Amino acid sequence: MSDEAVQATNDDASMCKRYAVEKGYWKDPYINLLVKLGERRAPEISRGYYARMEGIRILLEKFLRMTECKGQVVSLGAGFDTALWRLKDAKLLPTSYIEVDFRPVTSRKCQKIRSRDKLMSPLIEISGGREHVLIGDAELHSKHYHIVWADLRNLEEFEDKLKSCGIDNSLPTLFLAECVLVYMSAAKSSELLSWISGKFDSVFFINYEQVNMQDRFGQVMVNNLRGRKCDLCGIEPCTSLKTQEERFTSSGWESSRAVDMMEFYQSLPDLDRIVRLEFLDEAELLEQLMTHYCICAAYKDPNNIGFSSINLKKS
Ligand SMILES: C[S@@+](CC[C@H](N)C(=O)[O-])C[C@H]1O[C@@H](n2cnc3c(N)ncnc32)[C@H](O)[C@@H]1O
Repeated sequence: MSDEAVQATNDDASMCKRYAVEKGYWKDPYINLLVKLGERRAPEISRGYYARMEGIRILLEKFLRMTECKGQVVSLGAGFDTALWRLKDAKLLPTSYIEVDFRPVTSRKCQKIRSRDKLMSPLIEISGGREHVLIGDAELHSKHYHIVWADLRNLEEFEDKLKSCGIDNSLPTLFLAECVLVYMSAAKSSELLSWISGKFDSVFFINYEQVNMQDRFGQVMVNNLRGRKCDLCGIEPCTSLKTQEERFTSSGWESSRAVDMMEFYQSLPDLDRIVRLEFLDEAELLEQLMTHYCICAAYKDPNNIGFSSINLKKS
């Protein structure tokens, strides 16, 4: 699969998010500034995105509260994610929030930020003045927020870029990968996970991506994507919840736990509201989709910060 096709997956993800926000699944006053409203999406897709957003939000906020916002977040393949602005509104900004993606993606994001006051003003506010927000062609550096480009398969390049953001390997750090690792070979994602666990002391990882991909429905998903010139070249660790967990424990992580999205979705406290938003024809399809995605939380916690208690339960 070409790098261009991988980068284009960001457009699809952000348009699905924008559509679900428009339908009222969750609030995001920033996504419409980054992406246009696209075609209609089926309700099961929007419900899937809702569960994905909620799962990541719950884990991320628990990490930030536990570390009293004195940690760092590194969002891998961040695309057009708007978490930085939403965290600012929730008064949960970490010491440093770093986003990494391919250059064409970071370049488009920087252009949009530069030209939209509603995105730029909060950055100026948290940085203490316009002169402290350095925004170039494809990178942005400011007090709490950085956008840099790198190919995550190239660890030297990735490390240099993290250093340019002033990353501190001794601070508690959360890495987030939302549908990203599956686009690189299993060998490359394993190198990346080993590198992170080797470099950072107290570190947490949230990985959201496909699971159960060897069954019939999983193969249909793979073939559909292939038909759209999108090859999932890192599918092996997406075989089961166990393989998703083992990819971490075999790469130097102390512990990992993966939950399928159906289990998480059914535990959501506002499910009544969600099911009333749009009529769903195909309950079976929703279940099939949800059981083919998972959230895996992994950590290394030598200083006993308490990462073992960060889970998907609402608290
Ligand atoms: C499916 S999109 C997800 C975007 C965002 N995380 C979200 O969920 O909305 C995958 C993103 O990962 C990025 N990506 C995939 N492989 C990458 C790599 N090797 N280096 C940098 N970025 C990568 C793509 O460019 C794309 O923006």
